[in-house]
Amino acid sequence: MRNKVYNWGILAPGRIARRFAGELQQLDNARIYAVGSSDLSRASAFADDFGAEHFYGSYEELVSDPKVEIIYIASPHAFHMDHALLCLNHKKPVLCEKAFSLNLSEVEKMLDCAKENNVFLMEAMFVPHQPSYRKAKQLIDSGELGKVKYIHSWFGFNKSPYDVSQRLFNPELGGGALLDIGLYPVFDALFFLGQPEQISANAEITETGVDQSITIRLDYQDGLSVSIFASFFATSGVGTDVFCEKGIVGLRRTSSVDQWLDIDCPGANVERLNWSPSGCGLKLEAMEAMRCLDEEFLESRVMPHSLSLLLMKTLDEIRKEAGIFYKGRD
Ligand SMILES: NC(=O)c1ccc[n+]([C@@H]2O[C@H](COP(=O)([O-])OP(=O)(O)OC[C@H]3O[C@@H](n4cnc5c(N)ncnc54)[C@H](OP(=O)(O)O)[C@@H]3O)[C@@H](O)[C@H]2O)c1
Repeated sequence: MRNKVYNWGILAPGRIARRFAGELQQLDNARIYAVGSSDLSRASAFADDFGAEHFYGSYEELVSDPKVEIIYIASPHAFHMDHALLCLNHKKPVLCEKAFSLNLSEVEKMLDCAKENNVFLMEAMFVPHQPSYRKAKQLIDSGELGKVKYIHSWFGFNKSPYDVSQRLFNPELGGGALLDIGLYPVFDALFFLGQPEQISANAEITETGVDQSITIRLDYQDGLSVSIFASFFATSGVGTDVFCEKGIVGLRRTSSVDQWLDIDCPGANVERLNWSPSGCGLKLEAMEAMRCLDEEFLESRVMPHSLSLLLMKTLDEIRKEAGIFYKGRD
């Protein structure tokens, strides 16, 4: 039986929307049907580049198009809640970029709105859909390497010189290392270990109140802990090492399609698992969203609402510990 082909609407055609759209084009059951931008000429250029049939100069027009069947929200995270509510209240299923919003109460509003409207909503957190993460999770949960004793996780690149006009440094847009990249290592801790018992954090704050670097410690029962580092000023790359009793599971990536997993046990050569780019990437979250729509699920089992809630609750606590505040939205 031929798969249903979904008409995607792209809301806010910025950098990540272009990457996402490029990957959507690889899927047989997805059509880039329409795009909505705050600027008609940007919508038109995006439609030309990705073959969208319709382009709109406002998000309202996009969500009002009756043929749009699912919307990918790619605006800065300060606007995710408003844009998600706009889509959901128009009964449009939503895949919304990370960070899901700025704080827990906003995420709760989004999930309540999805429930009230009986509409699918998923956070576009690509990692749990990736083969490297699925393999690491299965390996760790199997107990083959014994208990997890410690996790070290980091995400950093160098964005100097400091420039508040960039989204990353702009508090009005939800800028800051924690919500932009630090949430990935935090997610890893929650994905492998669940909710921590104690949180401590220290951030290097710019004069606008945005964190440019952050270190975090999460403590669990029995002395188990996680150390996290995220920064816009350190060329650390992206990685997570899970130290187990019998070996180390090392996750690495340079992008959503370029990733590998090292399994390092004493007395054996390091086993390196690689995946073909065609089996990785942002398209996996789009595939999961469409699978959920096929099955009439209102949430994903891979990235469930409970995980989005736990992630944002943890991020809220980290921000409080580190003194990171978004004016009027804490
Ligand atoms: N999953 C990932 O790997 C990944 C990677 C990068 C970013 N992201 C997430 O994706 C979101 C967008 O990031 P991006 O790097 O694509 O940002 P971007 O290039 O700046 O694009 C954001 C788009 O949002 C729209 N927008 C609406 N109101 C805006 C405002 N007041 N200021 C600026 N833009 C506004 C703009 O589109 P129009 O004006 O044309 O509507 C703009 O093109 C962020 O939440 C980020 O965390 C995810």
